Amino acid sequence: MRRTPYSTSQGAARIGACAAALLMAVATSGSALADAASEGKAVLERNCGRCHGVAAGAQSPLSKAPNLWTVLRSYPVERLDFELAEGIGSRHADMPQIQFADEDITRIYYYLHGDDEARPRP
Ligand code: HEC
Repeated sequence: MRRTPYSTSQGAARIGACAAALLMAVATSGSALADAASEGKAVLERNCGRCHGVAAGAQSPLSKAPNLWTVLRSYPVERLDFELAEGIGSRHADMPQIQFADEDITRIYYYLHGDDEARPRP
């Protein structure tokens, strides 16, 4: 007896299931990224928002303090890592010297660069 060839409809169903799984994976990682990014923003707001504007284009509460979205986004990745880990604040008066934990740095990174695929965090 001849073996039934793999039916086309079965094959199509398989491919469909695969595509659905892939889409779900993408959607999940996309929202994980969005979560990380909003946590990154919250971390900055909590620690720095008293003086600095944190959202793009926001006015800083303290007019002398530059908007962090603009300043931090302009830093090359290595510098951002270094500054956040070492405590950016050491350089100026009144600023708390905060050494962010690595996972917070990643969140801040995604907040600043999550939409910028040209510069994934290493
Ligand atoms: C008490 C107010 C205050 C807080 C809180 C504060 N800053 Fe600042 N920051 C300033 C002021 C004022 C300036 C601008 C004057 C200066 O550079 O001395 C500044 C400047 C900066 C700059 C620019 C430095 C440069 O080299 O041009 C960065 C980056 C920065 N702050 C990061 C942060 C981060 C990150 C936090 C949170 C951990 C933070 N700041 C919290 C007051 C503050």
